[in-house]
This record gives sequence, C-alpha cells and structure tokens, in this order.
Amino acid sequence: MCGIVAYVGQQAAREVLIEGLKRLEYRGYDSSGIAILNDRPYLRKAVGKVAALEQQVWADRPAGSIGIAHTRWATHGKPTVPNAHPHLDCTGQIFLVHNGIIENYQVLKKHLLAAGHRFCSETDTEVLVHLVEEAYQGNLETAVQKALSQVQGTYGIAVLHGAHPREIIVARRGSPLILGVGKDEALAASDVSALAQHTDQVVYLEDNEVARLEPGRFSITTLENRPVSRDTTQLEVGPEAMERGAFPHFMLKEIFEQPDAVENALRGRLNHSEGVAKLGGLESVRDRLQQARHLIIISCGTSYYAGLYARYVFEALTDLTVETELASEFRYRKLNLRQNTMVLAISQSGETADTLAALREAKRKGALVLGLVNVVGSSIARETHAGVYCHAGIEVGVASTKSFTSQMTILALMALLVGRARDLSYEEGMQIIHGLERIPGEMREILAQSEHIRRLAEKYSHVDHFLYIGRKYQYPIALEGALKLKEIAYIHAEGYAAGEMKHGPIALIDPTFPTMALAPEDGSYDKVLSNMQEIRAREGKIVAVTTTGNTKLGSLVDDIMEIPRNHEILSPLLSVLPLQLFAYHCAVIRGCDVDKPRNLAKSVTVE
Ligand code: G6P
Repeated sequence: MCGIVAYVGQQAAREVLIEGLKRLEYRGYDSSGIAILNDRPYLRKAVGKVAALEQQVWADRPAGSIGIAHTRWATHGKPTVPNAHPHLDCTGQIFLVHNGIIENYQVLKKHLLAAGHRFCSETDTEVLVHLVEEAYQGNLETAVQKALSQVQGTYGIAVLHGAHPREIIVARRGSPLILGVGKDEALAASDVSALAQHTDQVVYLEDNEVARLEPGRFSITTLENRPVSRDTTQLEVGPEAMERGAFPHFMLKEIFEQPDAVENALRGRLNHSEGVAKLGGLESVRDRLQQARHLIIISCGTSYYAGLYARYVFEALTDLTVETELASEFRYRKLNLRQNTMVLAISQSGETADTLAALREAKRKGALVLGLVNVVGSSIARETHAGVYCHAGIEVGVASTKSFTSQMTILALMALLVGRARDLSYEEGMQIIHGLERIPGEMREILAQSEHIRRLAEKYSHVDHFLYIGRKYQYPIALEGALKLKEIAYIHAEGYAAGEMKHGPIALIDPTFPTMALAPEDGSYDKVLSNMQEIRAREGKIVAVTTTGNTKLGSLVDDIMEIPRNHEILSPLLSVLPLQLFAYHCAVIRGCDVDKPRNLAKSVTVE
C-alpha cells in the first residue's frame, strides 16, 4: 500500500529518496513520485515501477538535500501521472504526499473550488495541499495543523514549502509514520525498512501528532499545537534484513527462513518443568487472562487463517469459547461482548486498518484486547492492552509465509499457557512442547523437497482452477494454500472444508479441475479419504499432502507431498510449507511477479 519517504540533511535527496522508495516497493503500489527543493523545486512522477521514476530522476540529476517521495496504491482515481503524489498547491510552492483516505474530501473540495483553487487530479489527497495553502501565513507547521483540523479520515503526510528549504512537516492519524534521526539529517517514512540503512534511532509518531523535521532534529506537537516530548527508540532490525541474498525472490527466502522463525518464536518461551509456555508480554494481564471465558480472534487475510487455526487449538487445549472473525466484519457488528471476553488481534504488519478499527471497537466495549504482531512498535502493538511479538524478522514478500507459521506457533503457545492454568494436564502440555520443538527440524525436511514440488508445479501450473480441501486443523491450511496460489500465481483456487465439498464444489470437478487434499494421518484422515474417493469417482486429479511413509493412498492420488508425523494440533505448521512452495513454483513457472503480485499490498492501511 502507499509508501512515504522524506529526507532533510546533507546528502543528495534524490539518492536517499529513490533508495527509500525501492525499500518500500514490497508494500505494493502502482505509481510513484518525488519532489526536491532547491533553487527551483523539482517534481517528477511516473506510472508503474519505481524504476520508471528512477530513470527520469537519474537523467535529470536534481540537486538538493531536502525532499519527499511516495509510492501510490490507487484508491481515488486511476494510477496516472496527475493522480500520483506529490500534489502541488496553486502557488507551486507547497508539495504534499499522503497515505490514507480523506473521507470528507468532496465537501472540502467544493469549498476550495468555490474559493478559487484549481485541482489537477481525481484524488482525495489534493484537497490537503490546498487546505495547507489556505491556512499558510508564514508558518508551515501551523498551517498543517489548521488544515488537518478540518479533515475526517486517515492520513500519514509529509509536506514541503519552497519558502522553508530546511524543514519538512509530517503528521499522522491512522496511517503509520516513523521518524528517523541521524547526524545532521532527519527522515520520515511509512515503514522502518526505508529508514534502517540511515539510522537506528527512530520515533513512532502517534495519531493526531505533527512533527517538524530539520537536519539532526525533530520536534512534535499535537494538532492543537501542544508540545509533545518523545525520546527516540533503538531500531531492532538492521538494513541486511531487507537483502535477498542468494535467493531469487524474497518469498522463497522467507519460506526457507521458517525453521529459524519458529525457533525464534519459541526461544525462551517453553517451561519444561511445568509443561507450560512463558509469554512475558502477557504477564501484566495474567489475572484477566485467568478470568477470561470467551475469546474472539480478529484479523485479515493470512492472519485470519492463523486465527481460524487458533480456534481449533484453543478449543482443544482450553475451556474458552472461541470465535474467529474477519476484522472488516467484526467492526460493523452490533457487539454484545459478554463479561470476561478477550479479543485477540493478529496482524503481521500491525497496521491493517480493519484490524486496528476492530480492536478499537472491542476496547471501547471494555474487552481485554491482546495483540499478536510481527512489526515491533506498530500501531496494533501499541494500542492493545498486552501482547506477544512474533519475532519472525521483516517479511518483504507480499504473500505472507514465515509470519503465518510464527503466528501459528505462538497461538499454540498462548493456548498452552491458558490451558495449563485450567484443566490441561502436565503430560498433555509436554506433548505440545515436545511437538513444537521438533517443528524446525521437520520443516527443514520438507524444504528439502522443494525440487520435487517444483516438478509437480510444472505438471499443474497450466490449470485454471484448483480446489483445496482439509478438515479440522487442516481446514485453515486449505484456505491458506488456496490463497497463496491465487495471490501469487493468479490461478483461481478455492479452499473448502472437505466435508462441504459435496454441497457445491464437487459440481466443478472434472479431469481439468484438480484438488489439493490435506490428508495427514490424523483424527480426520478417514473422512478426508472418503472425500478424495468422491473426487476420484468424478475423474478429478488429486495431489495429497500426507504423512511421510503413508503408502496406503495408492492409486487414489496422482501425486504426493510428504510431511513428517507430529501432534495433529501442530501438523498444520508443516502441511502449509508444501503448499507455499507449490504456489511459489507455479508463480515462477507462469512468469508472475512473485514478491509483488498485481493489485496487492503488503500492508493494507485503508478500509
Ligand atoms: C494483506 C497482505 C496479506 C496479509 C493481510 C493482513 O492483504 O497481502 O499477506 O495477510 O494483508 O495483514 P496483516 O499485516 O494484518 O497480517
């Protein structure tokens, strides 16, 4: 989704900004733009890849050591050069980039047009720069405060004014914005990945705050101009986390990082003597955790599937009633939260707008709100009462992989923690602990099959449709496997509960419509086998994910991908890996842009 980079310092702004935009590319975008202040302000925009903008900027070589840049993911108006940011006011002095959505832009635009302002784009953003122009009386920060006071909706913005060649004003409400402070320079970005190579000293801007950046300095005020004092924090991730190394794509690198990511998720969190998990982030709410009777899990996309998985795990290990809900639906429901309800928000980025809005709603209703987040210091991490970090490291590929398995690992730990405080026995707790400890090694065994899976992908990548089926613990994995295939390989794939298959999708089955069946030898194995037989009877092709050494499938299936045997609660942590690899190889064979699939964004900061 849209990205912002802003720089003021001693270096050539063009280099820092283009480099920053490249670091933000993974978030997803369809056009980009840059403004640099110098004797004559420089403005360039381009549709498509950052490389198109970069070419123009390298040809022009604009001087100047202050500027702002943006990658846009179209919401209001198509991806065109006029709609790309930065936007400019009528005087040609003020430049502005924006992430988020201005909800009352039509009303504001009407007033601004009546006051004589000229608009050049179809965007909601453009009203902001004209509002700043209206409010400007010599102090840019004051003008931005005044302009934003009239705005409804969400924003992360960066603003430049030709008359203020050493300052950038930034502000946020609902869209992430992080400041970076270095020696004789200051930066801002919508994502730490654009800052990490310049400084490890960052400041997380809060909602309704405005910051002034000058070389080596920053100051923060509220929209009402009250000063805010905030210290810098040390950034945990280094710039090397954004390197692909020997891997052709970030997604493949991240698939292969999963054994390490699970080890990191488990590190220091297993208590063998008591057969329980230790999650420091939940210590402060231990009493409320113990009193809880109901759990509602809210999330989007792949994180939602982790939530669906958690429903089965919490039901198995605890006595909580559990609901898993799409955040985008939860937030609009008439909520009647019962006493002792806790709400768990799961989000890799910690910035997903729907998840954030849903957790705010739950908080307002008095629930204990917990977070399971990968990005340290992100909005969801900061707004929840307590929570746990995944520590999966930066995930660059738009299609989530290592975050998903980290989330599942920690969800199993959370359920273990809650369960052991209730009636889960020590022996049952230890079975989970031992199973979890085996996961990284077993994941490595699966990853060693990548070449076999690539050959399978060669066999199936030409198909137009794929059905994915699974039961119980494997049902969320069927959904996630299908999502992976559609989002990166653009193959229509449906994930279905195996038992539901005969209530509809079976009508589609024929020799051209294959099925991926999740069939490890667990408690649901026999039932899934029956479903596979029903498919076979309709001449459907079947690829099965089953337990290593299971020779009983015989001619029922066309192809097999094997996973080691583990506790049935934990085997989804394994069965998703072949599906990730299968989708990855299909996408590569089909010539798709694996790390940046069309129309998708890594972090969805609009509703
Ligand atoms: C986007 C990403 C998905 C992700 C979803 C939820 O759609 O492309 O990979 O699962 O957002 O994101 P979150 O950061 O909240 O987990």
